[in-house]
Amino acid sequence: MATPRLRKAARTDARFLGDMLVEALNWAPSRSIARVDALADPVVARYIEGWKRPGDAGMVAVDAAGTPIGACWYRLFPEHSPGFGFVAPGVPELTLGVAGVWRAQGIGRELLRAVLVQARRNGHTRISLSVDRANFAAKLYVAEGFVVVRRNENSMVMVRILS
Ligand SMILES: CC(C)(COP(=O)(O)OP(=O)(O)OC[C@H]1O[C@@H](n2cnc3c(N)ncnc32)[C@H](O)[C@@H]1OP(=O)(O)O)[C@@H](O)C(=O)NCCC(=O)NCCS
Repeated sequence: MATPRLRKAARTDARFLGDMLVEALNWAPSRSIARVDALADPVVARYIEGWKRPGDAGMVAVDAAGTPIGACWYRLFPEHSPGFGFVAPGVPELTLGVAGVWRAQGIGRELLRAVLVQARRNGHTRISLSVDRANFAAKLYVAEGFVVVRRNENSMVMVRILS
């Protein structure tokens, strides 16, 4: 299996980012929300609607044929229509997903690290996210320097200082 490579997320990646957003919602095998139903939720749709607008940035992992296999991106949400992981205006929120067969091979971590660098280069000093408390992805985030700033019943909000 060839090593995946990363490239910057483009406007034309909107559909794939939507796929990865649905993967992130369906993080546990017990969850199988259909794409159409997932994106019918206006708060969920907010993560990709109108991609790629000013302030949006991210990375896409592609296989040897150039087919997208994972993505990590961030965007800014206004206070009046926040994401699940909103902490403050001007602090972007991150989303991460890797296609099923490509998981547990280091791609998620590589994407995450690349987007943290990208966010810092773009002048951000903090970045946030929301993750279900039972999702092992939370351990990945802690290992990459995120700290919990808010706990809800089933989920938590984490922030990473970009220095
Ligand atoms: C979470 C996700 C993005 C991680 O990407 P990945 O490429 O599979 O992860 P990596 O291979 O980079 O591994 C990252 C860490 O997670 C661990 N991990 C990977 N798969 C795991 C699994 N099935 N169970 C427990 N830990 C696992 C790895 O061991 C690694 O930690 P370690 O090396 O310190 O042990 C990916 O699994 C995914 O898309 N999951 C569904 C969507 C999702 O949950 N997104 C996040 C929503 S907040």
